[in-house]
Amino acid sequence: MKDPVRIAITGAAGQISYSLAFRIASGDMLGKDQPVILQLLEITPAMDALNGVVMELNDCAFPLVQDIVATDDANVAFKDADFALLVGARPRGPGMERKDLLEANAAIFSVQGKALNDHASRDVRVLVVGNPANTNALIASCNAPDLDAGQFTAMMRLDHNRAKTQLAQKAGKHVTDVASMVVWGNHSATQYPDLAHCKVDGTPALELVDREWYENDFIPTVQQRGAAIIKARGASSAASAASAAIDHMRDWALGTDEVVSMGIPADGSYGVEPGIMYSYPVVCKNGQYEIVQGLSIDEFSRGRMQATETELREERAAVEHLLG
Ligand code: NAD
Ligand code: LMR
Repeated sequence: MKDPVRIAITGAAGQISYSLAFRIASGDMLGKDQPVILQLLEITPAMDALNGVVMELNDCAFPLVQDIVATDDANVAFKDADFALLVGARPRGPGMERKDLLEANAAIFSVQGKALNDHASRDVRVLVVGNPANTNALIASCNAPDLDAGQFTAMMRLDHNRAKTQLAQKAGKHVTDVASMVVWGNHSATQYPDLAHCKVDGTPALELVDREWYENDFIPTVQQRGAAIIKARGASSAASAASAAIDHMRDWALGTDEVVSMGIPADGSYGVEPGIMYSYPVVCKNGQYEIVQGLSIDEFSRGRMQATETELREERAAVEHLLG
């Protein structure tokens, strides 16, 4: 039997966590042979609701769950955490852009960055889901000077998965036939889902779909999918977001041959200078992610990649006071 790992989840009584915590507890994230200790964080007024979630987790009698901690103290929730999924934040409503949440949510991530810095395992892997995810991840990492910035990531996997499905459905193929999808930049309406390197069942995607569909249908559909879900459901995506968070952490921890998209500290690759959390194509092995280098970038792509970078730099400028 492996030693248990500690998994902190914030916003643990919220919509996303109502799917996420149960799937992690059942072994979907780290495997059916990996015992887990769940460390669940909420704000004080939501502690009753969180206790209800804990009752349900207990009622599932999950074989992998060794302990459950429910707390409103970030220092307790992040104590020795090996994985931290930062979900707790306000979601947007109809008519809002995700960056409109910056003011409401940014302060959460400076406090939690400090708590991770002071209490988490030195190898903690952090995924920020709460919006605007990339800039919140930047705030958290800047407030954790004793941890490596590369330990902080932002969730782009939902966009990546959405893009794969849109393309597979258009091509009349299955999502498992789609390879080398890339989503660049920000988890926002400026993100750039790029088909230039993508293949479907071995054939270049851009030979299977016409340019008109790519530019005027595919890209906006993926960019606006979050808003479309809010319009349809009256609430933002939850189960699909939880599923993407599990995909992200599983691949980071256990590795994957597939190219996946992750929001990570920009390092100059593809001309994106450091200082923001930018989504790149990566592959994961031995518990590390590595940017896929050497992809050719044409003028169309360059313009899209720069537009989403510009937006991230504007978001950064708005929270400079929280960056430590
Ligand atoms: P929700 O309102 O259902 O749940 C959020 C929970 O966070 C609430 O229970 C709230 O009490 C808690 N919370 C607030 N402040 C907290 C704090 N400081 N510490 C701990 N918990 C705190 O919202 P949701 O639908 O679960 O969404 C959560 C966030 O995830 C939102 O910001 C949403 O926009 C974002 N989201 C991101 C993606 C993505 O792809 N990155 C996808 C979907 C949703
Ligand atoms: C999503 O992409 O579904 C989430 O970021 C929620 C939102 O506000 O769109």
